[in-house]
Amino acid sequence: MALRETLGRAPYAAVFTLLTLFGTWSCESRAPAPPPASQSQSGSSQVQRGAYLVAYGGCNDCHTPKTFTPRGPVPDSTRFLAGYPADAKLPPVTPGALGPDKWGALASGDLTAWAGPWGVSFSANLTPDETGLGGWNEELFIKTMRTGKHLGVGRDLLPPMPWNDIAALTDDDLKAVFAYLRTLKPVKNKVPPPVPPAGGAR
Ligand code: HEC
Repeated sequence: MALRETLGRAPYAAVFTLLTLFGTWSCESRAPAPPPASQSQSGSSQVQRGAYLVAYGGCNDCHTPKTFTPRGPVPDSTRFLAGYPADAKLPPVTPGALGPDKWGALASGDLTAWAGPWGVSFSANLTPDETGLGGWNEELFIKTMRTGKHLGVGRDLLPPMPWNDIAALTDDDLKAVFAYLRTLKPVKNKVPPPVPPAGGAR
């Protein structure tokens, strides 16, 4: 059916279909988003607007570690948007598990690590700690979201980071997202660099 066709044509699309299912599962536990700001884009209304966009944009689904409860995975509020936990012990991807005629991608149970044809990617720490976005500024954040390059100039950002969707936001909205991320509790968590596909993910 639809899912099978999607799998045939574009493995990434299947990842997002699955992600949507996961998102539906975990969304009850999210804090209610503040209402959108009206015209003004400064001060606390800008931060509120950013919180609203981050909630709607589902950054939480991939960037917040989860705790596992009988109701399923729940975002860990003590590590909100702190990225893939550096101390997590993930087993290697089973050789041969991924391929054009097999699963297109695999995710860790908390959706902070992803394996696919691109290797293994780990969601970034978005808190203002020095191990997260502490050294970033608004300009760098906007450049990264617009170009899809690591730190705005480096390698291509890997799936499933949906930078091309986030790039559709206006500059004011991206500034609001960044202003909100600045208000998060800083969490020390040095996320590892991605693992290239050679010798592992496929
Ligand atoms: C579907 C999962 C997913 C969602 C949703 C998601 N991200 Fe990401 N994000 C990732 C992954 C995985 C990486 C690491 C990519 C890499 O290493 O190339 C990442 C990396 C990043 C980075 C670091 C970029 C860099 O230069 O290294 C930033 C900043 C970021 N995401 C912001 C956001 C924001 C803001 C949102 C919500 C509006 C968001 N992400 C939603 C998965 C996601």
